[in-house]
Amino acid sequence: MRDEPQSTGRRVYSGIQPTSVMTLGNYFGAVQNWVRLQDEHECVYCVVDLHAMTAPYDPSELRDSTREMFVSLLAAGVDPERSVVYVQSTVPEQAELCWLLATLASLGDLSRMTQFKEKAGAQRRGDDADGAFIPAALLFYPILQAADILAYRADAVPVGDDQSQHLEMSRGIARRFNSRFGNFFAEPETLLTTVPRVMSTADPTRKMSKSLGPRHFVGLFEDEGSVRRKIRSAVTDSGAAEGGGISPGVDNLLTLLAASGHPEEADRMREEYRIGKLRYVDLKGRTADALAALTAEMRDRRADVERRVGDVDEVVAEMGARARSIAGATLARVRDRMGIFPPGRSPATEL
Ligand code: AMP
Ligand code: TRP
Repeated sequence: MRDEPQSTGRRVYSGIQPTSVMTLGNYFGAVQNWVRLQDEHECVYCVVDLHAMTAPYDPSELRDSTREMFVSLLAAGVDPERSVVYVQSTVPEQAELCWLLATLASLGDLSRMTQFKEKAGAQRRGDDADGAFIPAALLFYPILQAADILAYRADAVPVGDDQSQHLEMSRGIARRFNSRFGNFFAEPETLLTTVPRVMSTADPTRKMSKSLGPRHFVGLFEDEGSVRRKIRSAVTDSGAAEGGGISPGVDNLLTLLAASGHPEEADRMREEYRIGKLRYVDLKGRTADALAALTAEMRDRRADVERRVGDVDEVVAEMGARARSIAGATLARVRDRMGIFPPGRSPATEL
């Protein structure tokens, strides 16, 4: 990886929150696309533990779920030989860049972010006993996200729809920096790739998510018995779509079948559904087979990663060093342009 990206290939950057278990929703909806993008781009991927600190959390759980997400990314196919994959808190340059960029972000814009309003609302409601506590970090969340992206001078960011406002904010910050201090940052584009939206098998009207509880998600490394049980008991007919469309549960199973490598079979079954010939037992059976095969492969790959990696924290530290060399080069130039001093010599060099 070059320290000064420019010209030819586009640099792709994305981040994911450490939510411990990686679900099929995360995998099909985001991570599988990250893995593919490595074939054509220089990619930098980050487990954003500093962002996770904006919600109430437990310190030792945070470190565990960050490790878990890091290992999951490697097992899912993010390749540290080809890409930079790292943990956000191992790169203090990013937090520093966040401060510098905060001088270029408008308070009005920040307080109008939908995600800020929603999360601040939720924390206000959840915290009644102690009175409302909304950490200022929640307001800064999009500036830290801009710092993530701009530290690596990325030009393309694969994210879901819900992040487009944050990306607009990153572009605004890059633009303001360029016009005030001279052209330096690319304005990062949102890389829109069509990815499936995976719904809960227990309630297909809601997005598959860990936060809904164990019945509602399938983990990427989940054991076969449990995967099969969840698919067998998947809701197919309740809440059938109005107006004769496909029922959300059937649609979701077809989505899972297609995403797990069987798009033609899913198309054929979709057609059978249309003409009233689809047997749900067949759909569930095939989807369960496909997901059992996928999760078994993922478990093998994970065991392989664990064998190769040995001490995860060592690898996290190593990858952090690689990421820091890129972010540090950006930061030095940003500091210079913004008119502040270089950092004092580190105490270690004076000994
Ligand atoms: P989260 O853990 O909700 O922050 O999601 C991490 C990434 O996975 C984001 O890019 C989401 O868009 C994606 N994702 C999470 N759940 C789903 C889902 N049920 N279907 C599709 N994509 C999802
Ligand atoms: N806010 C993003 C999310 O919740 C995660 C994220 C943090 C991110 N930093 C990023 C995504 C930088 C893309 C680029 O999904």
